[in-house]
Amino acid sequence: MFSRRTGWKLTVNRFTEAQREFAVAGGEILDLTVSNPTRAGLLVDLTHDQREIAKALADPRIADYDPQSKGLLLARESVRAYYGERRAEVDAESLILTTSTSEGYSYVFRLLCDPGDEVLVPKPSYPLFEFLADLQDVKLVPYPLLYDHGWQMDLPSIEQAMTERTRAIVLVNPNNPTGSYVKNEERWALNAFCGKRGVALIVDEVFLDYPLDRERPESFATNNGALTFTLSGVSKISGLPQMKLAWIATSGPPDIANEALARLEVIADTYLSMSAPVQLAANAMLEQRRRIQPALLNRTQANLQELDRQLTGQKSCTRLHVEGGWYAVLRVPATQTDEDLVIRLLRDRSVLVHPGHFYDFPSDGYLVVSLIVPEDEFHEGMRRVLDYLEK
Ligand SMILES: Cc1ncc(COP(=O)(O)O)c(C=O)c1O
Repeated sequence: MFSRRTGWKLTVNRFTEAQREFAVAGGEILDLTVSNPTRAGLLVDLTHDQREIAKALADPRIADYDPQSKGLLLARESVRAYYGERRAEVDAESLILTTSTSEGYSYVFRLLCDPGDEVLVPKPSYPLFEFLADLQDVKLVPYPLLYDHGWQMDLPSIEQAMTERTRAIVLVNPNNPTGSYVKNEERWALNAFCGKRGVALIVDEVFLDYPLDRERPESFATNNGALTFTLSGVSKISGLPQMKLAWIATSGPPDIANEALARLEVIADTYLSMSAPVQLAANAMLEQRRRIQPALLNRTQANLQELDRQLTGQKSCTRLHVEGGWYAVLRVPATQTDEDLVIRLLRDRSVLVHPGHFYDFPSDGYLVVSLIVPEDEFHEGMRRVLDYLEK
């Protein structure tokens, strides 16, 4: 009765089952996986922004329906201004608004791929790709990120992984959860072989504004060396995942970028998924970044420092180098599977962390923790994790 593409294994995994059991038993948990910025104890500092957003959502113009396929120009102008502040000159006409970055991926996969066509994705990375690809009948081909004094792309292996069915390479800049940005040399090399082989770049920049070890990293939104779709939105930029405002910025050699935009506009026009209130409040939502980004950056930096302080006192755990984003990757002894380890940590120490296999790490021995957890909880949670590992 159902499509093959939705034939997912829907049984609950052991880790989720353990979390449910723990919740039913009424156990109090230290959650080091929090990645929802609305649940990170930051809202008290944002009352001004919340009032402004609420006011904008109640704009009398919400009574009017003006179906613009790319999204309302005034909202696209606010996105253009966001990039303008980063000295990236993005034309509002090259932007298409979507409800989420995930929707952006689905439009771009639909634009580029026939059923069975291939898209290269980084490994380890964001666990949603598999479902996004299944839903669009796209075949994902992983390309490895290598760790050697920091994360690097293995460019020869990307070239090897390409076939005549390859339509795009996904870059996550910075990647979740490795926190690695795409380096300039990697960008130049990718532009060169994507341009040559007629393959597009899909660049997910939701964490771009959260660097830990550098000034403003450069966006791909004006990358012209190859056809490029840059995806982002207010869910991370302004800590507003509940508002559902994101976009696709299209750039590249003008002829091909214009054709891509014209086709994307038809896809967007078919759904017209943007609501008027959200678009009218786009500017107020983007303004919230001015308060939430410094607060989140302080938080991620403080937690990283605390992590390093605790790591100096022990020998069982190290952390991998991180350049940006909201996560840290821990290297731990692979004496049991990561799944067994996180279940033990939950049952014995009431602390929740993610196993590396959620993100497709190549082996056991990796844990992922969020750096946006409130400082006192992060401190105590890490103390428990390290204490368990030492014993
Ligand atoms: C790398 C990456 N891209 C996209 C998203 C989802 O963004 P959105 O809420 O805009 O769909 C996430 C969510 O955590 C993410 O980690």
